[in-house]
Amino acid sequence: MSDGHPRVTLCRTCCCGTTRKHSDVDHDRQLRTLRAALDGHLDVRQSDCLGACDHSNVFVIQPSPSARAAGAKPVWLGRVLDEKDLEDVVGWLRAGGPGTTPPPSVKDKTITPPNVRTPPHSTT
Ligand code: FES
Repeated sequence: MSDGHPRVTLCRTCCCGTTRKHSDVDHDRQLRTLRAALDGHLDVRQSDCLGACDHSNVFVIQPSPSARAAGAKPVWLGRVLDEKDLEDVVGWLRAGGPGTTPPPSVKDKTITPPNVRTPPHSTT
């Protein structure tokens, strides 16, 4: 049911989505809020550990098909923990998600996917 919309994957395993690591976060509410976003048309999935536990809670936002066709890439977000974070993510998804400019608070939460190596820093 994600035609024309971004897709969100919530990491939910050993750190993300656990009260053991984030006891003050209502993780089920995060999931319900995202599932209700875009009038229920947002495809929300859960994943085993994505390998970025230092940044939990991790969300991965896949661009809509049209945004992907225009060159948008998936965006990884880390430390999505409080209500404001979630509201800002939902607002960005409503605006189109990847391929549109994220609000500063969302942009500040972007992380590099753990399987993507950054080029070595040049010292020349
Ligand atoms: S549990 Fe989410 S990155 Fe490891």
